[in-house]
Amino acid sequence: MNVMVTGGAGYIGSHAVRQLIEAGHRAVVVDNLFRGHRRAVPDEAAFYQIDLADTAALAGVLADEKIDCVMHFAALTYVGESVAEPLGYYHNNTAGAISLLRAMREAGVRRFVFSSTAAVYGEPERTPIVETCPQKPVNPYGWSKWCVEQILRDHAAADGRFAFVALRYFNVAGAAADGSLGEDHEPETHLIPLVLLAAMGRREKLTVFGTDYPTADGTCIRDYIHVEDLVAAHLMAMEALQPGDTRYYNLGIGRGYSVNEILDAARAVTGREIPIEHGARRPGDPAVLFADSGKIQRELGWSPRYRGVEEIIATAWQWDREHPDGYGD
Ligand SMILES: NC(=O)c1ccc[n+]([C@@H]2O[C@H](COP(=O)([O-])OP(=O)(O)OC[C@H]3O[C@@H](n4cnc5c(N)ncnc54)[C@H](O)[C@@H]3O)[C@@H](O)[C@H]2O)c1
Repeated sequence: MNVMVTGGAGYIGSHAVRQLIEAGHRAVVVDNLFRGHRRAVPDEAAFYQIDLADTAALAGVLADEKIDCVMHFAALTYVGESVAEPLGYYHNNTAGAISLLRAMREAGVRRFVFSSTAAVYGEPERTPIVETCPQKPVNPYGWSKWCVEQILRDHAAADGRFAFVALRYFNVAGAAADGSLGEDHEPETHLIPLVLLAAMGRREKLTVFGTDYPTADGTCIRDYIHVEDLVAAHLMAMEALQPGDTRYYNLGIGRGYSVNEILDAARAVTGREIPIEHGARRPGDPAVLFADSGKIQRELGWSPRYRGVEEIIATAWQWDREHPDGYGD
């Protein structure tokens, strides 16, 4: 298939581009490079520096490249930033998706794989979280993604041949097993890369936000999924989509790790000291989040190859050691 990958110069999108090419698809990257890296896009992929807001340019690429399916990763992704700049988040993530969907309608492209997030569930009433759990985001980032899911439902109802899958990711981590791609965010907000920066001495210490949660060791619990397992689910979902489908799947490994457990695993993988300090809880940080990903396992036969956090951290550590300056741009 000819696949447009928005955000294909970003962390997850670049891994998707790689896997699409390896699977024999043609990947066409659209990214404004606001937070992405041109060097993360392999030479075999076409690249267009376009903003999601530019509907006409998107429609042109969709038609010229004869796109069959869009994988939509492009978004702003920081919860804290979304609280400070909600308009920017709704503009980029929600209005940006509308612009893309309009371009797709104009070009007659009707297959859509959407990067959604566990943030649509907000503070969950139960764990593990299943797809039918109530969706009550607790920050503008989560709402900006939830709005896109709602827009997709309405758009699919209006156009019976439009098909979409919303993949609700838990915490994505790790790097390509061959060491060629990794996570290079500025600023970095994700736990595992922050821990590894502290292990490398590039950050003085890691702040553990909250040690009085109702968990065994008092720190927050999250579900970490390896980026290549996550991306594999996108290809399976894309191939399974039939006209009119509206699908939702959680993507996690179904096991939660506390912040302290991540620190212990990172110390074991790196053999380094990781200095920490304790900070207050952050507002809107639920105590425990982990996925029930049984639905995608049953319906599409997906299963994660990386089942433990140490293996995931090891791939990130390899990338960090070989690319201390990330993509160097
Ligand atoms: N990383 C995670 O743990 C995680 C968890 C849940 C959901 N997600 C979702 O996965 C997707 C990818 O996340 P990531 O971690 O790879 O983020 P990223 O910041 O590394 O990649 C996003 C890419 O989108 C591009 N982009 C942003 N706005 C754009 C616009 N208006 N026009 C064109 N390009 C634009 C950026 O330049 C960047 O290359 C996002 O939609 C995010 O919300 C990520």
